Amino acid sequence: MLEPVLDPLFEQAALRPGEQVLDIGCGRGATTYRAAHEVGRTGAVTAADVSPDLLAEAQSVRSPGSGDASIEWVVADAQRAALGESRFDAAISRFGVMFFDDPVAAFVNVRRAVRSGGRLAMVTWRPRNACDFHSVGWAAVNEALVENGYDVADSNPGVGPFSLGVDEVVESVLGEAGWVDIEVEPLELPLYFAGPNIPVDAAVDTAMGMTGMQTFLQPYDDRARALAADALREAYTTRHDGSGVRLDAAMLITTALNSGAAGD
Ligand SMILES: C[S@@+](CC[C@H](N)C(=O)[O-])C[C@H]1O[C@@H](n2cnc3c(N)ncnc32)[C@H](O)[C@@H]1O
Repeated sequence: MLEPVLDPLFEQAALRPGEQVLDIGCGRGATTYRAAHEVGRTGAVTAADVSPDLLAEAQSVRSPGSGDASIEWVVADAQRAALGESRFDAAISRFGVMFFDDPVAAFVNVRRAVRSGGRLAMVTWRPRNACDFHSVGWAAVNEALVENGYDVADSNPGVGPFSLGVDEVVESVLGEAGWVDIEVEPLELPLYFAGPNIPVDAAVDTAMGMTGMQTFLQPYDDRARALAADALREAYTTRHDGSGVRLDAAMLITTALNSGAAGD
C-alpha cells in the first residue's frame, strides 16, 4: 500500500554506500531492506520498532540481498532506548515517528544516536481531514453513525498518526530537539488503500481492522459496527478504479541535520 512513498523518502535521505542508518519504527521492514540495499555491504542498518511481532514478521518475509548491508533488528522504543551515541550517518522513517508521548524527547534521543552533521529524513501523514486516503472512510463512517442517531465524539484527528501533520509542528518539535536546516515539504500521491489489486471488501476489512477505527468504534454496539462497514463499502466502491481503492494521500516529507549540540 505504501510502496509509492519509498522513492520520495529515499531521494531525500540520499543514502550513500557504506553509511550507517537507523530506521525508526521500521514495522515490517520495507524501508529497512531498501536502506540495506542503498548503503550496500559496507554499510549497516539498525531497524528499531516497539513491536516484537512486527520485527519477527520483517525478518521472516525476506533477507537482505547478497550485496546489501547487514541489518540489526532491535525491539526498542525510539523515544527512550539507548540507540547509541553519534553512531548513524542518517535516521529515516516512513510513518514510524508519530506515536511518541514526548516527541521532543524522542527526537533528541534519535539525534544523539546520529553523528554531528548526520541527517534525518521522514514521512508523516498530514492531518486526517487534509487527506482523502484517510478522510473518505472516516467521513463516511461518521455520517452513517450520526444519521442513525448515534452520538459521535470528535475522533481527534490531530493525534496519533496525524500528530506530525502540520509544518509548524514538525519544525517546532525538531527545532526544540536540536535539529537544524529543517525542510518540510508537502508530498501528495495517489495510493491504493490496502494495496493495489484488492477488492472493495478487502479494503473495508483493512479499514475496520485498523487500530484507530477499532478504538473509535469500541464504545458502540454491533449495529454501529455494521453501519460503519456498510458506509466504508459504499465510499470505497465509488473510489475503486478496477484495480483497487485509489485515494489521494497527503503527507509531509521532512529532512533535517544534526546540529551536534548537546541537547538535554
Ligand atoms: C504505521 S507503522 C509504519 C511501519 C513502517 N515504517 C512502514 O513504513 O511500513 C508505525 C510503526 O511505528 C512503530 N512504533 C510506534 N511507536 C514507536 C516507538 N515509540 N518506537 C519505535 N517504534 C514505534 C509501530 O510499532 C509501527 O511498526
